[in-house]
Amino acid sequence: MTDVLTVHGGHPLKGDISVRGAKNLVSKAMVATLLGESPSTLRAIPQIADVRIVSGLLELHGVHVTGGDALGELHFDPTNVETAHVADIDAHAGSSRIPILFCGPLLHRLGEAFIPDLGGCRIGERPIDYHLEVLRQFGALVEKRPEGLRLAAPQRLQGTKLTLPYPSVGSTEQVLLTAVRAAGLTELSNAAIEPEILDLIAVLQKMGAIISVDTDRVIRIEGVDSLQGFTHTAMPDRIEAASWACAALATHGEIYVEGARQPDMMTFLNVFRKIGGAFEVDDAGIRFWRGGDAQRSVVLETDVHPGFMTDWQQPLVVALTQTRGLSIVHETVYENRLGFTQALVDMGATIQLYRECLGGLPCRFGQRNFKHSAVVSGPTPLRGADIEVPDLRGGFSYLIAALAAEGTSTVRGIDLIYRGYEQFLDKLDAVGARYERG
Ligand code: EPU
Repeated sequence: MTDVLTVHGGHPLKGDISVRGAKNLVSKAMVATLLGESPSTLRAIPQIADVRIVSGLLELHGVHVTGGDALGELHFDPTNVETAHVADIDAHAGSSRIPILFCGPLLHRLGEAFIPDLGGCRIGERPIDYHLEVLRQFGALVEKRPEGLRLAAPQRLQGTKLTLPYPSVGSTEQVLLTAVRAAGLTELSNAAIEPEILDLIAVLQKMGAIISVDTDRVIRIEGVDSLQGFTHTAMPDRIEAASWACAALATHGEIYVEGARQPDMMTFLNVFRKIGGAFEVDDAGIRFWRGGDAQRSVVLETDVHPGFMTDWQQPLVVALTQTRGLSIVHETVYENRLGFTQALVDMGATIQLYRECLGGLPCRFGQRNFKHSAVVSGPTPLRGADIEVPDLRGGFSYLIAALAAEGTSTVRGIDLIYRGYEQFLDKLDAVGARYERG
């Protein structure tokens, strides 16, 4: 099959789709299965490439993974966890950022870990310095080698008191997955508290962990000697849900997203309404459509939870090109997540990028030469174009742009979108999108 989609835009997307478990929880809960002494079952697992990558890595380490991902339920038996061969792990290098989260569980189970070079979307530098510092503070020895990282725990890891320089999602997960079986108490300040992290904490609590979350971004973990398996249904994917909402708005359509949950999406829903989107919440999902066409502008900055997620930013920017008003988007989580807008400009959008922190408080990237603020003026008709998928969220956003544009677009590199959007071609069919493969 080719990696190219020919999209015929200019038609409203209308229909029903559903979302399953959140990519950014499911992959972490899968890693947590390594910590148990008995098997775990995870439900609502989406059919996405990241799940296959993490399954492969778990199997390399001796976890027996069964169940079909088409059914959305996988079982993990970690009874025979073993050290994987460096060459096998290395074959997974470059495919995902999840391997870094194997460190704590492997150090507890085996006393050592090898982590290949990390992949993931190219949306900024994405260093792992916080992760390594965290692991060192627990007592791990970390050695950087040309082929990756070699870690060792000469003795049981020790609970510790830590403060993150920034409330990083992955580093908070690193602390959780390491502290639950470390000796004694761990106190983490400036932690990330995204709903996916709270769901991971729920998974760990089911396993026997003792974790409390305070209101001031402080998480306390009392280490325990052993953990058991869990049965858990993953929280729904709020990034995918918001992406389809933006598609409805940008194409003047109407999409019902079964599985979308209001409490996880409050911040998005406020912005969606402000820019002219309408929605209706029921017990099973949320219906999204375009409301009135009055002048609507927003000044928005992406932020850690409970702020506006950086992963919502890219689809939202496409929607902003199709709504009336002049809006400011200040990206404060990643320094390089607005580069995808150049292709939108080539399609006819009016978007200007700035190095300054526009519209809000100065962020970490101010005065550092990163074009991380955008001014978007809409509505501007988009023209079909030949576009290459730059990263996961940017890729889905280009699809939205192509579907909103007049004429035909060629979208190349669509395989990347499978990393985080389950069966998106089937879902495009369900909302009446016009496209062909190749
Ligand atoms: N950071 C550092 N050093 C570190 C770790 C992070 O400087 O050691 C910086 C990053 O460079 C970034 C900021 O801290 O500027 C936040 O990064 P974070 O650690 O929170 O991101 P992550 O854990 O690598 C996860 C999601 C991302 C999502 C971010 C923010 C997964 C697998 N990925 O990444 O999701 O954007 O949190 O919410 O959970 C996506 O789904 O498309 C995606 C990129």
